[in-house]
Amino acid sequence: MSPFLPYGRQTIDDDDVAAVAEALRGDFLTTGPRVEAFEHAFAETVGAAHAVACSSGTAALHLAMLALGVGEGEVCIVPSITFLATANCARYVGAEVVFADVDPLSGLMTAQTLADAIARCGGRRIAAILPVHLRGDVAELPALRQLADEAGAALVEDACHALGSRMTFDNQPASAGDGRWGDLATFSFHPVKTLTTAEGGMITTGDARLAERLRGLRSHGMIRPPGADPWIYEMPEIGFNYRLPDVLCALGLSQLAKLPRFVERRRALARRYEIALAPLAPVVGLAERPPWSDPALHLMAVLIDFEAAGCDRAQLMAALKARGVGSQVHYIPVHHQPYYAARYGETDLPGADAWYAHCLSLPLYPTMADADVDRVAGALGEALRT
Ligand SMILES: Cc1ncc(COP(=O)(O)O)c(C=O)c1O
Repeated sequence: MSPFLPYGRQTIDDDDVAAVAEALRGDFLTTGPRVEAFEHAFAETVGAAHAVACSSGTAALHLAMLALGVGEGEVCIVPSITFLATANCARYVGAEVVFADVDPLSGLMTAQTLADAIARCGGRRIAAILPVHLRGDVAELPALRQLADEAGAALVEDACHALGSRMTFDNQPASAGDGRWGDLATFSFHPVKTLTTAEGGMITTGDARLAERLRGLRSHGMIRPPGADPWIYEMPEIGFNYRLPDVLCALGLSQLAKLPRFVERRRALARRYEIALAPLAPVVGLAERPPWSDPALHLMAVLIDFEAAGCDRAQLMAALKARGVGSQVHYIPVHHQPYYAARYGETDLPGADAWYAHCLSLPLYPTMADADVDRVAGALGEALRT
């Protein structure tokens, strides 16, 4: 039987292993020269002025909240279709979450769903709005920025799916996390993401003072006052140990050099999927791509009409698995999670529920062969017929 195809996986080459081995033999295992080198290369890649490495995408979100000074008595607006961490970061700092609905065909927060969420904030101070670039498709940033400005809120892009994603608004090309629209953007280097450091994250910003504050907060809140004696450190505010080790930054640097290849391969596989899945329409459709979006696809999301298919998602996922094909659901609406439902009661977000009712992520990662895509499409067709 052909090897199992997971929905996502890392691409690690011999030169990645060599880069890590070299770092292991060097003088620094944790804070060392590769951290700054990775940050510089990353900032340049996404076109941001500053990049601050940290230990995970979740740490990046938490640090973003801390650097912005978000806290109790304030709210953050988060689309319900995302990973838990986008909402949880607000709770880490004592703020409350107001969930925004999403477009049922793209899964993205829109200007309309954000405006609806703002109206539900009941006059509480909105500290931050966190659009999520789901599967790599960039949210409608200029319109969201305008609403954020009107509300006096910061705009934090959760770009954990969107390293390398590009967009064009008003004929102006831009990149996810380049600081043109967002105050801060967060990235994750979990193995299924576009590049990996095993665990790891990055925050980008155009604001030098926010970047400086993030650097202090990721290391206990410690700073070294300029001109002070070499042993002196001060803690003007409390922080965490959210550092990304030198050894993992070595992996990040090595992976970053391959980003164009990874992105191009993901796009080529997605194009092949579009052709291979076309005969399964209208039961299987593609997630809708906003017109401004040129994504570095993290996920291959399809929307399935289970009613027309005559099966449910559990049956379909089991039938795919029996044929060696992994799949995943991105995501269960976060507002239905027991913690949030108990805290806020049930919120009616029909777009998020509709997205959840139909979405399925199929295998997508750079080491897949073209024939693997055909195999997935064939398995999906068979599974839907049985
Ligand atoms: C949209 C989104 N936000 C945040 C995170 C958290 O990143 P990490 O797993 O690196 O903590 C993830 C990763 O799963 C994610 O997909």
